[in-house]
Amino acid sequence: MLSVVGEIQSFHNPRLNLSAGYPEHLKKFVDTEETESIRAEIRRWPGYAETPLVDLGSIAKALDIEKIWYKDESQRFDLKSFKALGGAYATARQLQKFVSRETNKVISIHDLLGGRYDSLTGDLVMTCATDGNHGRSVAWGCKLFGCRCVIYIHRDVSAARASAMEALGAEVVRINGNYDDSVRRAAEDAITFERTVISDTSYPGYVDIPRDVTMGYTVMLAEIVEQLAGEKPTHVFIQAGVGGLAAMVCGYFWHVWRAARPRIIVVEPEAANCLQESARKGEPVVVEGELSTLMAGLACGEVSFNAWQILDEGASDFVTVSESAVVPTMKLLARGVDDDQTVEAGESAVAGMAALILSRQSAIQSQRLGIGSGSRVLLIGTEGATDPALYRALVAR
Ligand SMILES: Cc1ncc(COP(=O)(O)O)c(C=O)c1O
Repeated sequence: MLSVVGEIQSFHNPRLNLSAGYPEHLKKFVDTEETESIRAEIRRWPGYAETPLVDLGSIAKALDIEKIWYKDESQRFDLKSFKALGGAYATARQLQKFVSRETNKVISIHDLLGGRYDSLTGDLVMTCATDGNHGRSVAWGCKLFGCRCVIYIHRDVSAARASAMEALGAEVVRINGNYDDSVRRAAEDAITFERTVISDTSYPGYVDIPRDVTMGYTVMLAEIVEQLAGEKPTHVFIQAGVGGLAAMVCGYFWHVWRAARPRIIVVEPEAANCLQESARKGEPVVVEGELSTLMAGLACGEVSFNAWQILDEGASDFVTVSESAVVPTMKLLARGVDDDQTVEAGESAVAGMAALILSRQSAIQSQRLGIGSGSRVLLIGTEGATDPALYRALVAR
């Protein structure tokens, strides 16, 4: 059997809600009809194309499971990550609302393209904290739809990721703290300088913009449902930082597949396992410290308030994977197994695949997660080589 070095630690959610229908009180976070209207907008953005859903049959065979589908977000616009759908969409929504108010007419997001309302929006400033991909999406959205952008990064964000945002016209501010410190600093400066915070993480009192961000992600989930053409996965291994993506995966599939929804397994780095710790405690828990992990997009110590509501009752399991599994899994996908096509998967993209492989190396973990020869697993390759030099160095190592 195919193997990588490392460990998986799992925690089964004792509060898992087994009801077939998506709970009424969670409907405010995910709305599948709204997904369709967002999709109609995003389809009209320059460069939009559905990303591939790759069948990794040889890896599935090597792991003795029935099927692996891998949604390859390395090809999402030029940004190479699913995050392109979220921050840019929420930015566009803010500008759309602003212009509609100012002009007293209803305009669409598409109307903002091509600089038609730049004289109104050009001095507005959007801001956020990021470990790379979210900020790049916001910066791209500001450029596309016509406003200014200030992005906060923490001490560990690579210089290449900072330059990619600067190349999109953003002002980038590096702070001497971790991701959660950069979130706080962006929020404080936004009050002082009257900027709009486009955050991918929510907290009590700040929920609407992060909801727009995460609803943007559901366009990818709608594509997946269509690409599956009636088939359904039994499991999804989904990597998490603040949990926004995992919550949408959980909520969206619960909505559309009801009782036939897959088992949702949330995957985090060992050093940044705020969702797993929150699940153990039954309430949001902050993980302090360096949060040091190669999986930069997952280096978050605080869960998103919105995301937690869904995952608390919708996720089956919360697992962590060792750092040692990351590079071998990137290489495995880069080189391909037998007839499988090769995939460019960045550091944060491989957490789900690493967790699947590690779970198949352990009879106990396979049993705990209910994985066996009949399992059909969906993985989301959430980024490609978003830091190309780092990617090349890691894969060549
Ligand atoms: C590549 C990648 N995958 C997964 C995630 C996790 O998303 P979330 O923070 O919504 O849990 C991120 C977050 O930045 C990311 O950049």
